[in-house]
Amino acid sequence: MTTTSASPSLVSTLSGEFYTDPEIFAAEQERIFEAMWFCVARAAELDKPGSFRTCQVGRESVLVSRARDGSVKAFLNICRHRGARLCTQESGEVKRAFQCPYHAWTYGLDGKLVAAPNLTSMPDVDRVAFGLVKVHVREWLGYVWVCLADDPPSFEEDVIGVVAERLGDAEAIGNYGIDGLRLGRRITYDVQANWKLIIENFMECYHCATIHPELTEVLPEFADGFAAQYYVGHGAEFGEEAQGFTVDGSEGLDRIPTVAEGQDRRYYAMTVRPQVFINLVPDHVIFHRMYPMAADRTVVECDWLYLPHVVDSGADVGRSVELFHRVNQQDFDACERTQPGMESRAYIKGGVLVPSEHHIGAFHTWLQTRLGA
Ligand code: FES
Ligand code: FE
Repeated sequence: MTTTSASPSLVSTLSGEFYTDPEIFAAEQERIFEAMWFCVARAAELDKPGSFRTCQVGRESVLVSRARDGSVKAFLNICRHRGARLCTQESGEVKRAFQCPYHAWTYGLDGKLVAAPNLTSMPDVDRVAFGLVKVHVREWLGYVWVCLADDPPSFEEDVIGVVAERLGDAEAIGNYGIDGLRLGRRITYDVQANWKLIIENFMECYHCATIHPELTEVLPEFADGFAAQYYVGHGAEFGEEAQGFTVDGSEGLDRIPTVAEGQDRRYYAMTVRPQVFINLVPDHVIFHRMYPMAADRTVVECDWLYLPHVVDSGADVGRSVELFHRVNQQDFDACERTQPGMESRAYIKGGVLVPSEHHIGAFHTWLQTRLGA
């Protein structure tokens, strides 16, 4: 696990093995995805007691569900009897309890073991001790975040604080009222590329002029390659011609009323390590979560969120969805074109970071520190 320097003024990237080696991926699962706060679901998906969602976090399957008291609970999705996967669906709803499909051990919405065939003949099975294994859970911005660590890092510092720092203002994110917005569209992308290629792509705009014609039309400053999507804390200004953040620059939908005047006609973007990207524009919010599945496969779930009355009215969100959907496709195509190169002997020593990509170098340093390399 080494990097090399190409020349004094240019910085080299990670070597190819970082994007292909299953052992490095396993270390990332353990030391990053299972150790940090990980965003798993939109809280509104869990709209009633018994609604649930499952997803892969590091090497574990996690079950998040709405309990009877309205709170969100998170558990390891593993039956305590003989270890079968409890919920096999990605999402759904149970009436009162989760029942294991193997021998029918049954768990309440609070995770407690409530029934099992012949349970009365097994007095030493403690129903709490043999309940589902709990996972730390938080709700913020209308999303459910979990942490598998026994002793989780500070959510305030690692998530809320990072967003505030990116925007240069602790209050700014609140202006978008993200928890009160409604899902207008969700698109899930199954990307055949390592999660770091996706993050690195998101962190630089050197590629914007080449692959994002629609985006650079709306955000002309992206065409010069220096805007970093990773951290557009100043807000990229819409081009004079653009009336809204839409695929053809036409007018957007109703503006979020609490967006400040200085945030109007501007695009903000940020990465919250390790797997969330947030884009803010005056009339909607685009919220990406990455689910790293293998060294060469990442599922990306992208939500477009609008004011509730906009979604309820059946207004056409298509033109605003289409803009970033195209950006996503253009970016993920680029990542998939790059993935095979990571195995090539041409990339054994890695590649080069140009000056406008310097913050990718900071990401690599962060990654290697976390991996203890
Ligand atoms: Fe779940 Fe036996 S493994 S009930
Ligand atoms: Fe891009």
